[in-house]
Amino acid sequence: MAKVLVLYYSSYGHIEAMAKAVAEGARAAGAQVDLKRVPETAPQEVAQAAHFKLEQDAPVAKVEELADYDAILIGAPTRFGRMASQMAAFLDQAGGLWARGALNGKVGGAFTSSATQHGGNENTLFSMISNLLHFGMVIVGLPYSHQGQMTLSEVVGGSPYGATTIAGGDGSRQPSEIELAGARHQGELAAKLAAKIAA
Ligand SMILES: Cc1cc2nc3c(=O)[nH]c(=O)nc-3n(C[C@H](O)[C@H](O)[C@H](O)COP(=O)(O)O)c2cc1C
Repeated sequence: MAKVLVLYYSSYGHIEAMAKAVAEGARAAGAQVDLKRVPETAPQEVAQAAHFKLEQDAPVAKVEELADYDAILIGAPTRFGRMASQMAAFLDQAGGLWARGALNGKVGGAFTSSATQHGGNENTLFSMISNLLHFGMVIVGLPYSHQGQMTLSEVVGGSPYGATTIAGGDGSRQPSEIELAGARHQGELAAKLAAKIAA
């Protein structure tokens, strides 16, 4: 059975919801799944003033734990067209794992959220994917087997590079059913590939 980590950062809950869907998909594919988040790095007064969702059920991950998994899917919202610094700060502590090749050959994937449809979500995915490639990981995106990303009948996130959602300028839009299905599909594909690699 593949061990899958869904690791996320979320200020307002959109990525938290996507992470839960990624975890569901991986679980449905038979994996043992842990859902964890990275530490908040913004000062508490800043986070409170910006109304961050500071209470989240997922436990906070430790960097060394990354080596324990066959697949790691990371999710973080767009910040100026790249991943949120909270996620980057966590990954920047993985130099020791990188140096000893502890993540080489594992399965990786990225998912994100942006306020607007063209606010840099694909670039954000690549900011995370390039990090995973440096770790030596094999990337699973969101292929067109998730047909929902093709629709033009509603606003929809999702790209071949990974699952995405659109939060809206005021954050009021929640991940749609199609976007959550994309997240589940990416989790499922990563878990299936990890099981094959681990076999
Ligand atoms: C400092 C900052 C920078 C942001 N930069 C972008 C951006 O470049 N493009 C965009 O579409 N949204 C941007 N956003 C909106 C966030 O991506 C949005 O709040 C997030 O996707 C919601 O996910 P969450 O609820 O998981 O935090 C930014 C938000 C903040 C606070």
